[in-house]
Amino acid sequence: MLSGYSKSEFLPFFSKYGHYVFAIIVVGVSVSFFVQLLIDKTKRRSSKGSQLYSANKSLELAPDEEFAENEEETKEEEDGPYLPRDLKHVKYVYARPSVDEMIVKSAEFYAIANARRTLRFFSSEPVPRQVVRNIVKAAGTAPSGAHTEPWTFCVVSNDELKRQIREIVEREEEINYKKRMGKRWTADLKPLRTDWHKDYLTEAPYLILAFKQEYGRLPNGGKKIHYYKDMSVAIACGILITAIQYCGLVTLTSTPLNCGPALRQLLGRPANEKLALLLPIGYPAAEATVPDLQRKQLNDILVEFE
Ligand SMILES: Cc1cc2nc3c(=O)[nH]c(=O)nc-3n(C[C@H](O)[C@H](O)[C@H](O)COP(=O)(O)O)c2cc1C
Repeated sequence: MLSGYSKSEFLPFFSKYGHYVFAIIVVGVSVSFFVQLLIDKTKRRSSKGSQLYSANKSLELAPDEEFAENEEETKEEEDGPYLPRDLKHVKYVYARPSVDEMIVKSAEFYAIANARRTLRFFSSEPVPRQVVRNIVKAAGTAPSGAHTEPWTFCVVSNDELKRQIREIVEREEEINYKKRMGKRWTADLKPLRTDWHKDYLTEAPYLILAFKQEYGRLPNGGKKIHYYKDMSVAIACGILITAIQYCGLVTLTSTPLNCGPALRQLLGRPANEKLALLLPIGYPAAEATVPDLQRKQLNDILVEFE
């Protein structure tokens, strides 16, 4: 041993400063643990928010909220526009009607729209498939957010499939009427004489199941955002219903509660598709009746600012 030097000075670095190093590691690990804890907590809070948000989505969603959600997703995939960047713009072909023609046409169209009723009794008489295809083509002309066309229309004429659809719907509707809908709702439906029996699902020659695509698929397999999908599908379905009426057939607009996933699976539709409406389509049964409903008058629905 050399004089003037303590034994510890000759020990390796870790023996001498080990306790400092240990203390630094412990403090470092603790700090990072607490920081991680804080991040997780924040994440949980925001995902709880989005869970609540998606629960609310089954209710009416304000367009701005939907846009905000989509904007967030956009940040994740900024690969340029879905439509071609150099998309050609062509001359709009337009044949302007006279004022008189417009007045006649608008009145004629109102008469057609006003004659539409929700039918609950259908004839099983066949309907030409071409008519149904044209009706769906018409629905497909609807405007959509950024031209994303977020819809799929499944047309079912197969008897066995119709039977299975009816089974699913009646099973759920019985629970809906007895348990889920509550007194107020079932009381409101009483005058319409609806219940969980849905004979029309097997009697109508065609069933149209309109699906909303929550998102689409890009050629590279990535997710394609569908903007304003609820509104877009609602407009497409409005055109579909009006086209059914225009060509002389009838339908029943229905949103079978709690049946969406089972019907989607039955038809083998992908997970991004959510059932929006189920519409039987055909001729009315010979003895069909409809509730004698009155519609609001123009001055009840129109507010003019001149
Ligand atoms: C979103 C929506 C869901 C509906 N769901 C049902 C339904 O499940 N069963 C039914 O018999 N009618 C249903 N209807 C039809 C309404 O009861 C009907 O439109 C309303 O009573 C007015 O009658 P009208 O369509 O003959 O004018 C629904 C209508 C809409 C718009």
